[in-house]
Amino acid sequence: MDYLEIEGGHKLSGSIDIAGAKNAALPILALTILCENEVEVCNLPPVFDIKTMLTLLENLGATYTFEGDCARVNASTVNKTEAKYDIVRKMRASILTLGPLLARFGHCEVSLPGGCAIGQRPIDLHLKALELMGANIEIKQGYVLATAPDGLKGATIIFDKITVTGTENIVMAAALAKGETKIINAAKEPEVVQLCEILNDHGVLIKGIGSDELIIHGRDRTLLNIPEITVIPDRIEAGTYLCAGAITNSTITLNRVNHSHLISIILKLQEMGFDFDLREESITIKPSPKIRNMSISTTEYPGFPTDMQAQFMALALLADGTSIIEERLFENRFMHVSELTRMGANITLNNNTASVTGKVPLNGADVMATDLRASSALVLAALVANGTTRVHRIYHLDRGYVALEKKLQQLGAKITRLSE
Ligand code: UD1
Repeated sequence: MDYLEIEGGHKLSGSIDIAGAKNAALPILALTILCENEVEVCNLPPVFDIKTMLTLLENLGATYTFEGDCARVNASTVNKTEAKYDIVRKMRASILTLGPLLARFGHCEVSLPGGCAIGQRPIDLHLKALELMGANIEIKQGYVLATAPDGLKGATIIFDKITVTGTENIVMAAALAKGETKIINAAKEPEVVQLCEILNDHGVLIKGIGSDELIIHGRDRTLLNIPEITVIPDRIEAGTYLCAGAITNSTITLNRVNHSHLISIILKLQEMGFDFDLREESITIKPSPKIRNMSISTTEYPGFPTDMQAQFMALALLADGTSIIEERLFENRFMHVSELTRMGANITLNNNTASVTGKVPLNGADVMATDLRASSALVLAALVANGTTRVHRIYHLDRGYVALEKKLQQLGAKITRLSE
């Protein structure tokens, strides 16, 4: 198993390119199930989760090639409808095949994803919405067995909670349903918006894109023809490197970003004292003479993303005074706290709120990654800790960050990937 060894205390400088967004690419790959042609998907990040989704599509009968950052996926040949436990257990987002498979074939069998390190993460809202669209859902031996022999029908769906992959699943199901589907309380994340825009540009009329109310005109099982798609930049990867610049109090530039997706992150960093230069597709973060404490409450887009909570907690360790971080989306997303504490951090947890005392010296230690974003917080803390930190179990990082250690090396960090 690989681990990262990081020597703290070095400033960063220079620039790196930000990859395509994993969380936008995953639903886009699932979308190929609705296409009658080969789809070229570019700016695809070559991370483990993307490879897992491509393997899942292949298991269903699709073919693909993946060179550089472009994959050509032909899912017109899909002839199986079972997303097996062996793949779903590796990646929860496999659930994104549920809507497309059911819409195209009228039945499918998708393993239940189960909980994960950050919480229970049920899929009840996905299932309830599909039932409203005429599906019959049974849970048997850990699988969702879904049938809709006469196809899915348009319906009005009100999501009790805002769900990103739930909205994506239902948008894709609705694209091939008969009639109009209205989703109320839809997610508005840029990844959802890109999915809707692609559909809208290729024969599925969608009203309300970017709002919390979507109306999707279904094509009654007529497959789509989408020649090519370019995945939007990864706002969470960009946010993580902005935190790397901030925590080391350095000037670094990120290229190939979309600032409009980064507003809540930029505003929070400005509040902490950092300054930025924004150019068309790049952003430069500049040092702050004094890092101010802050408070964060994670919420749905355009609010502060839960996927950036751990990285900002690492940054809060260097702020003057106490920062308050409230996690509102996932019940168990503080696994990084105990590892940061092992590095000397002073963090008090009270239910879903962490109080982080800044300016306590951090010391290198052996720490363990527990989930994707928690892992990047440990790397950030290691960049400023005294001495050497070893971050173990970095397969979590490899699920979602493209060549993390190479990009940090390019910026001047002393970081090496080694094998246990
Ligand atoms: C997606 C992102 C993930 C991000 C999260 C929140 C992908 C592949 N993953 O995850 O990185 O952290 O959005 O921005 O895009 N919920 C239910 N029932 C459901 C569905 C969700 O109760 O059927 C709850 C969840 O437990 C959670 C909240 O709703 O508390 C939001 O979850 P959701 O938006 O669905 O997260 P994901 O789509 O799984």
